[in-house]
Amino acid sequence: MGDVRRVIIDTDPGIDDTMAVMLALASPELRVEGLTIVRGNVGVEQCARNALTILEIAGHADLPVAVGADKPLVRPYHGHGATVHGQDGLGETGLSGTRPVPDRRAVDFLISRISAAPGELTIVALGPLTNLALAVTVEPRLAHGVREVIVMGGAVATRGNATPVAEANINNDPEAARIVFHAGWPVTLVGLDVTHKVTMTPAYLQRLAAARTPVTDLLAKITPFYLGAYQRMVGIDGFYVHDPTAVAAAIRPSLFETREVYVDVVTDNERALGQTIADFRNQWKLAPNVRVCLNVDAQGILDLYLDRVAGYRVPA
Ligand code: RIB
Ligand code: CA
Repeated sequence: MGDVRRVIIDTDPGIDDTMAVMLALASPELRVEGLTIVRGNVGVEQCARNALTILEIAGHADLPVAVGADKPLVRPYHGHGATVHGQDGLGETGLSGTRPVPDRRAVDFLISRISAAPGELTIVALGPLTNLALAVTVEPRLAHGVREVIVMGGAVATRGNATPVAEANINNDPEAARIVFHAGWPVTLVGLDVTHKVTMTPAYLQRLAAARTPVTDLLAKITPFYLGAYQRMVGIDGFYVHDPTAVAAAIRPSLFETREVYVDVVTDNERALGQTIADFRNQWKLAPNVRVCLNVDAQGILDLYLDRVAGYRVPA
């Protein structure tokens, strides 16, 4: 097997974030070195409590959890994550209780870890890009110090989900996304163009739950709320697989068709706020800054997920 990819996951758990973190922990191709937490699906302290809870269930309570931004860079949070993930971010299961959360040090954590391992770390961003934007603004040299920044976000050739044109993570902090897309580091965008092609159905979730492990038991508890939200709001009998698909891009990039292209983010128009515009015909004559995922082997993602997460055994 090739080299183990060292990753830090920036996340707003979040039901699909939880599913994504479990895939990362269950995959020998990755070594998760910490989670940084950002306001997104729910408030940052609740996201942090959820992160501590899911790491404990997965047998990785040892991993660092660094809390970050509790609001977007320049505008009030305007998302509706709780309607999709529950007020507690874990499907109204109340699993995380009121445990204390660590200090706010996500930006320092990102800067220190990346600076200590030039070219070694991949950052997988599963929420709004506030923490990454702050980190690369405080320490611009990060842009030349990461192996890759994989972003779950955007929609370049398909409709949005937060608005008709914008995907939720980008729409929740468009100014942060613009900074991240133009920082100069290698960005891979895993957007709705591919995640809307990957759907987990109730039958699939039953196969996952049949493993009856502490991790699949957790997913069986938190996914019904998410499923209900999708059935009610999207009208499908299943849910789109957003964050786990982004983690899969770090594990098996061969499952994706990508293209290097110039991408910008709309921040100055309320109707189009957070829209990610890809200049496929190079009409703006600007150098490509993002590797955009345009197609995906959806069955390959689902097979990978089931194999890894159903097969995962909590370390003794
Ligand atoms: O648009 C989907 C993204 O928004 C996912 O990361 C989900 O967790 C929410 O944060
Ligand atoms: Ca997320």
